[in-house]
Amino acid sequence: MPSTPSDTREDSPPDAPGRTAPGVRIGGLSVVYRTPAGELPAVRGIDLELPPGTITGVVGESGSGKSTLALSLLNAVQPPGRISAGSVQIDGLGDVVTLRGEELRRARGRHVGYVFQAAQNSLNPLKPVGRQLLDLGRSHGVADLRALVREARDLLGRMGLDGARVLDSHQHELSGGMRQRVGIMFALVLNAHLVVLDEPTTALDMITQATILRIIREVHEERGLTTLVITHDLGVVAEVADRLAVMYGGRVVEQGPTRQVLGDPLHPYTRGLIRAIPRLVGDIGEATALPGRPPTLATIPAAGCVFRERCPLRMDLCATQEPPTVAHGGRLVACHAVEGGIREERAGAGNHGGQDGAGGPDGRDGAEDPDGRAVAAGAREEQA
Ligand SMILES: Nc1ncnc2c1ncn2[C@@H]1O[C@H](COP(=O)(O)OP(=O)(O)OP(=O)(O)O)[C@@H](O)[C@H]1O
Ligand code: SF4
Ligand SMILES: [Mg+2]
Repeated sequence: MPSTPSDTREDSPPDAPGRTAPGVRIGGLSVVYRTPAGELPAVRGIDLELPPGTITGVVGESGSGKSTLALSLLNAVQPPGRISAGSVQIDGLGDVVTLRGEELRRARGRHVGYVFQAAQNSLNPLKPVGRQLLDLGRSHGVADLRALVREARDLLGRMGLDGARVLDSHQHELSGGMRQRVGIMFALVLNAHLVVLDEPTTALDMITQATILRIIREVHEERGLTTLVITHDLGVVAEVADRLAVMYGGRVVEQGPTRQVLGDPLHPYTRGLIRAIPRLVGDIGEATALPGRPPTLATIPAAGCVFRERCPLRMDLCATQEPPTVAHGGRLVACHAVEGGIREERAGAGNHGGQDGAGGPDGRDGAEDPDGRAVAAGAREEQA
């Protein structure tokens, strides 16, 4: 059995010092789900690196494979799904795709903290939160359970909750937003240095959401974490993420520094997502929904570009040849048009400004700001 950091840390207090943020390298990752039509890919050939100490955001419409990707980081894809190809190399753990049994169980929680999507519904209804916390600590061999409880109270307090009261409460005594924050506490309390948050703020009102995002960023920096935030909300990634990966139909179609991707999106899908953000200042009718619908497992094209049904730039080539992922400055983009230097959308498909980087994705004031955080953060404020 390879030696992992957990071998030496099982008895450490929850805030054991001396740990560093791990880097994560996802290579050629594919996940399939068994369906009546056979095994179909929900995630296909994903290459993505999470540099140590960074926050990476993953965005995309519903069904694009975000949660499936997140589950793969813990080798936690459940039947009828399975990881069919690829690796997830985490510093200090190795390739988690190959981990099994006890090694895998110990890696989860202690090394990889995870907030499940709909975390507000994932608590045990029969036990108070504090009992569940002690169970978690015992199952990971935490020697100082008092320190663990102190840590939990502190985290809950920072998120605006009365920690002692919450630990004494059952799930039904807490609101959806309170349960969401309890889920975040569980992901952080064992002091994992890789934290995966799947839609961490979905159930929260805008004010609480802003507080939670600030705390996620603070805790990330204080503890030196590597963090992955999954969301469908560009405003969330704009506020917290250093890097951004845009998913569509199980593929990462564009990735790079958040500011670049949001300030000067290259892939037609990224541009469409940004154009679809509603704005409550100025002309609210300016937001343009992406035409069509995202594909389901059954309709993801087996060949060519996954986005072609909805793409204003599609060419004949796009129907037969999958676009390779090509570097553009600090960015990776999978699009024949971008690769071929075609930077304008066709007339009639809605020309919302060129992709030459001189203007924003749609010519609006905020979108012209090269600082992507300002772009989408502005949109969020306007929505509040
Ligand atoms: N257990 C399952 N069995 C069959 N198909 C599944 C299963 N779980 C997910 N899928 C399919 O895999 C694809 C990716 O789903 P996933 O939940 O990863 O998407 P997502 O981007 O997280 O969506 P959302 O934003 O709605 O959470 C979807 O087409 C979904 O229907
Ligand atoms: S590869 Fe073709 S269809 Fe796909 S996004 Fe680029 S231009 Fe559009
Ligand atoms: Mg999801």
